[in-house]
Amino acid sequence: MPAKKAPAKKPVTKPVAAESAPAQTSKKAAQPLQVVRGMRDLLPNDQTYWKQTAAIAESLAGSYGFERIDTPIVEDTSLFVRGVGRATDIVEKELYSWETPSGEGLTLRPEGTASVVRAYVQHGMLNMPQPVRLWYMGPMFRHDRPQAGRFRQFYQVGYEVIGDADPVIDAQLIVLGWNFLKGLGIDATVRINSLGTPESRANYKNALVAYFRSKKAKLSEDDKKRLLKNPLRLLDSKDPTIQELKAEAPQIVDWLDEESKAHFMRVLEFLDELGVPYQLDPYLVRGLDYYTKTVFEWFAASDDQELAQSALGGGGRYDGLVEQLGGRPTPAAGMSLGLDRIVSRLKEKNPPANDQRLGHVDVFLAQLGEMGRKKALALFEEFRQAGIPVGEAFSKTNIKAQMEVANKRGAKWAIVIGQKEVLDGTVQIRDMDAGSQEIVDVNKAVHEIKKKLANGVDTSAV
Ligand code: HAM
Repeated sequence: MPAKKAPAKKPVTKPVAAESAPAQTSKKAAQPLQVVRGMRDLLPNDQTYWKQTAAIAESLAGSYGFERIDTPIVEDTSLFVRGVGRATDIVEKELYSWETPSGEGLTLRPEGTASVVRAYVQHGMLNMPQPVRLWYMGPMFRHDRPQAGRFRQFYQVGYEVIGDADPVIDAQLIVLGWNFLKGLGIDATVRINSLGTPESRANYKNALVAYFRSKKAKLSEDDKKRLLKNPLRLLDSKDPTIQELKAEAPQIVDWLDEESKAHFMRVLEFLDELGVPYQLDPYLVRGLDYYTKTVFEWFAASDDQELAQSALGGGGRYDGLVEQLGGRPTPAAGMSLGLDRIVSRLKEKNPPANDQRLGHVDVFLAQLGEMGRKKALALFEEFRQAGIPVGEAFSKTNIKAQMEVANKRGAKWAIVIGQKEVLDGTVQIRDMDAGSQEIVDVNKAVHEIKKKLANGVDTSAV
């Protein structure tokens, strides 16, 4: 459950001892349990998409010189209150927080940047050659209203560059995101804005408050509250009245100090140089308080209207966060991509085949009778240890049913072992395409298949 006020004072989740759960007394069948609302199982048929996304995440991390970091899923609540910001929706409404019996306020991480910065400070990474480039991938938790592309447990991959103020870093992070999505065949554009330094942002905030105050009569109660607590958030409100009022509202670009303006121009120049398409969005403010200067978000078209409006990723510069979390003043920038939304696009483009669960194998072991099955079990281990992809259906006795599995898995050869073969010390090797077969010594079966594979029979495309 979300913490009402941060940091959470009271446990929002109360531990329940297993013994105290009511005993099942009714004779009726127990109701099947469901996954927790807003969370989901990633089923075997989805795994190919997740693997593909994880592979590109890792390969780009390598190309751009990022080193992997894994931080715990649970952190001190105050990390997010101080890092992400007390008045943000994430901290105000969406944290999964609780208090331990010893009085520690803990939270399931809603994002990765604050944790990475904590680790940077805690492990003295400021003494390493700067910038330090770190990447991560894993689950995040926000108690948000579940809807298309919005989950309470979702996955992000993130890239953080700590210790470099140069605008080329901002541009490189945007290019990385572009290459990530392009590499998966997703046509996305980046919306970009600058929030300037905390001073220019504060001046802009005052101008914005003055403007919306003059329109107060038109604001909903929620928006009036936002105006008091976090006026910048009004700019990304979906409310049609706000959308209308926004057109006349002051724009942050007019309030940027010279340094932020110059920084922003440099970022855009780098993107132009690299031919990365972008849209300037003067109302892009992002939902986390740590940003300074550049902010950006990725969007892609989708058949689903709701999905089309949800960002695939976002990020920006956060030059004040290291100091805010107890380190020396250190500039930094980063971005993260929402893997759930990216996987949805991949699935939209390439719907899953009926049964993707069984991977391709080169050879399949079919058996007849108990003696055959025992020998096949042992042979399976020999193939596996030799590194040859091998399949089986040991619980099936019918040879036809076994051959169907062999075909499904794209096996080029089936090895058949029955009682006769066991007594003779042989196996039959069947060429699944040609239909031909040969008898070989059981001790040479692995060697024979290796020879056939080495002869260049490429079965990987099956
Ligand atoms: P964020 O914009 O809050 O930024 O999240 C990044 C991405 O995570 C979003 O664009 C979206 O794709 C995905 N995402 C967020 N919430 C959900 C959700 N409830 N369900 C599914 N996907 C979601 C950050 O988290 C920053 N830490 C990014 C960053 C890194 N800034 C600097 N470095």
